[in-house]
Amino acid sequence: MIENDRFLRACRREPVDYTPVWMMRQAGRYMAEYRALREKHTLIELCKTPELALQVTLQPLRLGMDAAILFADILLPLEPMGAPFEFAKGEGPVIHKPVRSKADVDALRVIEPHEGLGYVLEAIKLIKKEIKIPLIGFAGAPFTLASYLVEGGKSKAFETTKKMMYGEPEVWSTLMGKLAEVVRRYLHAQIDAGADAVQLFDSWVGNLDVDDYREFVQPHVSGILKDIEKRGVPVIHFGTSTHHLLEVQREAGGTVLGLDWRTPIEEGWKRVGHDRAIQGNLDPTVLFAPREVAVKHAKRVLDAAGNRPGHIFNLGHGILPGTPVETVQAVVEAVHEHSRR
Ligand code: CP3
Repeated sequence: MIENDRFLRACRREPVDYTPVWMMRQAGRYMAEYRALREKHTLIELCKTPELALQVTLQPLRLGMDAAILFADILLPLEPMGAPFEFAKGEGPVIHKPVRSKADVDALRVIEPHEGLGYVLEAIKLIKKEIKIPLIGFAGAPFTLASYLVEGGKSKAFETTKKMMYGEPEVWSTLMGKLAEVVRRYLHAQIDAGADAVQLFDSWVGNLDVDDYREFVQPHVSGILKDIEKRGVPVIHFGTSTHHLLEVQREAGGTVLGLDWRTPIEEGWKRVGHDRAIQGNLDPTVLFAPREVAVKHAKRVLDAAGNRPGHIFNLGHGILPGTPVETVQAVVEAVHEHSRR
C-alpha cells in the first residue's frame, strides 16, 4: 500500500505539500551496503536474483527518497533477444557479438517479457510487498539500446551506429522496430507486475540532431510512449544532452520529461510546456562539493521550479560512484524542507 504518493501526484501535476525527490542510480556503488553485496555477487547475479534485487532496491530508501526504482539494468533484455553481454571490469558493458549486418538484425528475437525477463517481474512483485512509496520500473529506449548493440559497448561518437542509421536505413528501422516492440511489451509487463510509474532511458539520444531524431528515432519512441500512457500510469521520458531536442521529445510523448543540468529549469519547462511535468536537474557532480554548497545548488533548482505543481526533484543524470552518502541525505532533507508549501 502506498502511503506517500507525492511522487505520483507530482507526475500528474497535482498539488503536493513538498517536492518529491528520488535520484537516478540511487542504488549503487556509492553505498557501502551495495559494495558489500557486490563483493559476493556480480551485477548480473544481483539483477537475476529477485531477493537480492529487492534488497538493493531498498538500500537507498533510508536516505528519505519519495520513490523507489527497481534494481535492474537497461541492457537485460538484450540477452534473451540473442545478444549476450557482460560487464567487464573497468570497461563497462561488452556485447559479445555486436549487431552490424542485416543478418544480425534479422536474427534478433522479439521476445515476450516472461520468457527470459521473468526474474525482473518477480523482483517487482517482491518489492511491492515491502514498500510504502511508489515503485518506478524502467527500460532503455531503442536508440540507446541500439547504440550498445551496434557499437558493442560504450561509445563517444556513435560512429558505427550512425553508419548503419545513414547507410542502411531499412536495417536500422528493423532494428529499432524490434527493440521498440520488446521495450513496449516489457514496460506493460512491469506495470502488470505492479510498477506504479515507468521511466524510458534514452541516455545517449542527445548525440543526434533534430532532423535525425525525427526521422530515425521519434516514430519508435512515440509508439512506445503513447501506448504505455494509455495505461494511465505516469511515463518519464529521459535523455541527456537533449537541450536541442526538448520540443521533439515532447512531441514523442511522456507524462514527465527529464531535464539534465545543462538546461535551465525555467527555460526547459517552458519549452516542454507547462502541461507536462518535469524531472531534474541537479548536476550529479555537485554532490562532490562541500555539503552546504550542494544544498545551495539544490535550493537553486527548487527556486527555479518555483513550487509549480509537476516538479520531481532528481539529478540531471545518474549518481556517480564515490558520491558521499551524507551529501545525498542532506540534499534529500533540504529538498523536503525548502519546498514545503
Ligand atoms: O537507478 C537505479 O538505482 C536502478 C538501477 C539501474 C542500473 N542501471 C544499475 C546499474 C538503472 C536505472 C540503470 C540504467 C542504465 N544502465 C542506463 C541508463 C541510465 C544512465 O545512466 O544513462 C545505462 C546507459 C546502463 C548501462 C550500464 N550499466 C552502464 C553504462 C554501466 C556502467 C558500467 C560501469 O562499470 O560503470 C552499467 C552498470 C550498472 N548498472 C551499475 C549499476 C548500479 C554499476 C554497478 C556495478 O558494477 O555494480
